[in-house]
Amino acid sequence: MEGAIAVNPRALVDFTGDAAFHRLRTSGRRREAIARAAGFTGGATPSVVDATAGLGRDAFVLAALGSQVTLIERSPAMHAELDAALTRALGDPEVAAVAARMTLMHGDSRTILAGLHADVVLVDPMHPPRRKSALVKQEMRITRELVGDDPDALETLRAAIACARKRVVLKWPAREDLPLGWPRPSHAIPGKVVRFDVFMISPGAASVSAP
Ligand SMILES: C[S@@+](CC[C@H](N)C(=O)[O-])C[C@H]1O[C@@H](n2cnc3c(N)ncnc32)[C@H](O)[C@@H]1O
Repeated sequence: MEGAIAVNPRALVDFTGDAAFHRLRTSGRRREAIARAAGFTGGATPSVVDATAGLGRDAFVLAALGSQVTLIERSPAMHAELDAALTRALGDPEVAAVAARMTLMHGDSRTILAGLHADVVLVDPMHPPRRKSALVKQEMRITRELVGDDPDALETLRAAIACARKRVVLKWPAREDLPLGWPRPSHAIPGKVVRFDVFMISPGAASVSAP
C-alpha cells in the first residue's frame, strides 16, 4: 500500500515515447503471452479491466490489440501520472486511437470491481524485489517508493474472480509459487521473468473452474 513519496515520478508513465512504440511493435501481438493469457484467440477481442493499472503498460498493450480497457489505480500519485499520460496520448495521432480505448478510474479494485463487468480482469500486484538490470531496478524502486507493497493482493484476486465473465489473469514472478491458500489457476502461460496464471470462470457462476 502507499507509503511516503520520496521521488519525483514525472514521466514515469508515458504512452507516447520510444519505449511505448517499442512496446507496441514487440508486445502488441496476439501471440504474445499476455494476449494468449487474456484469450485473444480466434479473432476474439475481450473487454478488459486492469485492476492494478500501475504504469499502464499491460493496459496499453491490450488496448493496442483492440480491447476496451478500464484501468483502476488506487495510488493518487500513480493515478495522476496515468491521467497526465493518457491526456498526452490522446493528443498524439500515433497513439490517440489506442488511448481512446483506455478508461482510467481512481480507487480500490477490491470495491470498484463489484460494480463493473468485463470479460477479463488482469491482476498484477507489486511483487517482491528481484535482481535485474540497473534500469529495471531503478524503475521498480521508484514505483515501489511511490505505491508501496500490495499485501492485500489475495483480496484483489478474489474481487477479480467475482467480477470477470470469462477469465482472470494474474501476473506473477515466473519462478515463484502462489502462496498457500490462494485459488489454484486453471492453467499458466510461462515466461522468462513473469508467468500469467489464468483462472477460467465457470459460466453463470462467479467461481473458478476446476483445473
Ligand atoms: C506492479 S504494478 C502494475 C503494473 C502494470 N501491470 C503495468 O503494466 O504497468 C501494481 C499497481 O497496482 C496498484 N494496485 C494494487 N492493488 C490495487 C487495488 N486493489 N486497487 C487499485 N490499484 C491497486 C498499485 O498501486 C500499483 O500501482
